[in-house]
Amino acid sequence: MLLFQEGKIRNLTIKNRIALAPMGQPADIDGGFTQSNIDYLVERAKGGVGLIITGCTVCSDEYEPRPCNMHNNFHQNDRLGTLADQVHMYGSKLCLQLSPGIGRMSFIDPFTPPYSSSPVPSYAFPDLICREMPVEGIKKLVKAMGYSAQLAMRAGVDMVQVHAYGGYLIDQFTSAYWNKRTDEYGGSFENRTRFLREIIEEIRKCADPNFLSL
Ligand SMILES: Cc1cc2nc3c(=O)[nH]c(=O)nc-3n(C[C@H](O)[C@H](O)[C@H](O)COP(=O)(O)O)c2cc1C
Repeated sequence: MLLFQEGKIRNLTIKNRIALAPMGQPADIDGGFTQSNIDYLVERAKGGVGLIITGCTVCSDEYEPRPCNMHNNFHQNDRLGTLADQVHMYGSKLCLQLSPGIGRMSFIDPFTPPYSSSPVPSYAFPDLICREMPVEGIKKLVKAMGYSAQLAMRAGVDMVQVHAYGGYLIDQFTSAYWNKRTDEYGGSFENRTRFLREIIEEIRKCADPNFLSL
C-alpha cells in the first residue's frame, strides 16, 4: 500500500506517507519544548509516524505575548536538538512548524490591542481594534523567521513548515477580509502575499533552499 511506501518532499526521504498533524502544546517557561512535549512527539515516532510536525512555534514575542512554543535562542535549540535526535533514532523525520505570530487572535488584555495587518477587530475583544503592523515590524518578523529556521537546521531538524493557515497573522495579510492596507503589503494579491513570500525567501536564504516544505 502506498501509505507505507517511502516518500519524498523535495530532497528529503521519508520512510512512509504518515505525518503527524501540527498540534500546539504548552511550552516551557522560556518558550522551548518541555520534556513532556518531547516525550509526546518521540512516542509518535516510536509508533511509526514517518514525519513528525511540531505544533506552531513562533519566531519572536516582540509584537505579541508568546502564544505557544518559541524558537529563537540556543537554549531552546538544545532541546529541539534532543527532540530531533530522538525522532531520528526511530527512523522518522522532524519538521518544525514556524510562525511569525497569531495577530488579531492574540489575547493580551481587554485594553491593549494586538497587532494585525490592519485595524480590524481583535478576536477575543471585538470592540478592541488591532494596531496595524508597522513595516519595520514586518521586516523584523521576516528576519526572525529566517533566524529561527537557521537555528532549527543546526539543531538537526529536517525541514520547516510555515504556519500560514487558519486566520493567524500570515493569513491576516493574505486575506482581503482582514488586510485593508494601502502600502506594498496590501491591495493586490501580489501585495497581500508579499509578507509570506518574503518569509519563504528569507528561510531559503538563511537555512537551505530545500529546507522549507513547499
Ligand atoms: C489541539 C489542536 C492543536 C492544533 N494546533 C495546530 C498548530 O499548532 N498548527 C497547525 O497548523 N494546526 C494546528 N491544528 C490543526 C491540526 O493540525 C489539523 O489540521 C486539524 O485538526 C484538522 O485535522 P483533522 O481533521 O485530522 O483533525 C491543531 C488542532 C488541534 C486539535
